[in-house]
Amino acid sequence: MTPRAISCLWVVLPICIHGILLADAGNQIFNVKKFGAKADGETDDRKAVLDAWNAACASNGRPRVVIPPGTFLIGQTKFEGPCPGAYPIVVEVKGKVIAPTDLSQFSSDDWISFSKVHGLVLTGGGVFDGRGSSAWPSNDCLTSANCKLLPTSLKFNFLTNSTIRRISSVDSKFFHMIIFGSENVKAHDLRISAPSDSPNTDGIHIGDSTGIAVSRSVIGTGDDCISIGPGSNLITISNIICGPGHGISVGSLGKYRDEKDVTDLRVRNCTFRNTTNGLRIKTWPASGVLHAKNFTFEDIIMKNVHNPIIIDQKYCPYDSCPTEEAPSKVKISNVNFRNVKGTSTSQVAVNLICSKAFPCEGVTLSDIDLKYNGEEGKATSSCFNVNGFSSGTQVPPPCV
Ligand SMILES: *[C@@H]1O[C@H](CO)[C@@H](O)[C@H](O)[C@H]1NC(C)=O
Ligand SMILES: *[C@@H]1O[C@H](CO)[C@@H](O)[C@H](O)[C@H]1NC(C)=O
Ligand SMILES: *[C@@H]1O[C@H](CO)[C@@H](O)[C@H](O)[C@H]1NC(C)=O
Ligand SMILES: *[C@@H]1O[C@H](CO)[C@@H](O)[C@H](O)[C@H]1NC(C)=O
Repeated sequence: MTPRAISCLWVVLPICIHGILLADAGNQIFNVKKFGAKADGETDDRKAVLDAWNAACASNGRPRVVIPPGTFLIGQTKFEGPCPGAYPIVVEVKGKVIAPTDLSQFSSDDWISFSKVHGLVLTGGGVFDGRGSSAWPSNDCLTSANCKLLPTSLKFNFLTNSTIRRISSVDSKFFHMIIFGSENVKAHDLRISAPSDSPNTDGIHIGDSTGIAVSRSVIGTGDDCISIGPGSNLITISNIICGPGHGISVGSLGKYRDEKDVTDLRVRNCTFRNTTNGLRIKTWPASGVLHAKNFTFEDIIMKNVHNPIIIDQKYCPYDSCPTEEAPSKVKISNVNFRNVKGTSTSQVAVNLICSKAFPCEGVTLSDIDLKYNGEEGKATSSCFNVNGFSSGTQVPPPCV
């Protein structure tokens, strides 16, 4: 018998019986329970899960790591590729995966990471629970620029042609997900949630990546629903419901030297509810030089959003910047806001604060209808150092 037939007999007999093997399409199942996972929510099942991953990664069939229903405590784990097989490696999480609450069990700022995998599929309808509530009080990143980062729940590093779908992430200690150094990744049908006052619980952060599409997801956290960092190109975000949280943000950009450009972003058909920002671009003063260009934000609904449309080139949280500081050198150009409607809880519904060193170029506003829902007064626009034009409906009256 060929090795494949043997593993088929032992691992996926029912599938073989149904004749799928004849089509050479049998999945090889690597159930973590077969590798010793206890699923009692107390024993650390890290080793079993990693053993299952390693066996799957080494296989040359169609490997599928299965985390079945149940509660699996998994300590800090790094799933590493590349996996030599020709087929995508599927990780199907049906159960609930919970993180240790003791921070001393983490040696770096991630809980679960997948690195250097081509064709990863993470799916299954299960939940990753970062159990962050006991860690949040020790986060000092809102007051200190040089804070110690708490673990991000899911890091996807250097993935290619991969999919993350039908997964929930709740109560991360820090960010829920980071997609870094990756190419051609689709993330969809995700549910991400943490309380509105939980610090730095960003939903998805994208950095140094190309061809990333995030869609059909519901994200409500204590920080950005989605943030797009330096080195991100060809990013598409669509059909997202965001809130509570800080909105969908490009940035922050320019904090470090040698950051790479952010280009070709499209955000489409998203709804924001009860967020502090809607569509935001944020760059640091006294920054390095880089471009942020060719962004389109269209078909957007705002419900009770504090800053529905905001470009902030004086972004400086925790008041760490001197009052008279050099302007941002992030060059923002070709930014289009189209068909953005709804309600603003601040009067300045459109707030464009660009750099006096490099005014924003080619900012267009078309069909904007944002009403101020405060007690009295009407929505306004405010522009500094912006070149652009407006067309169609304009509520508030435009400043470009
Ligand atoms: C990865 O995906 C891209 C875009 O879908 C495709 O053009 C490319 O051929 C894929 N690469 C491999 C090795 O499958
Ligand atoms: C827009 O997004 C909503 C969910 O947020 C979805 O139900 C709807 O089908 C989307 N519309 C289009 C045209 O994609
Ligand atoms: C702008 O970005 C879109 C993707 O959102 C891309 O299709 C288009 O080619 C880009 N335009 C330019 C001029 O680079
Ligand atoms: C916004 O928050 C208020 C109070 O917290 C809540 O009553 C309302 O339903 C929320 N609105 C939306 C659109 O989620």
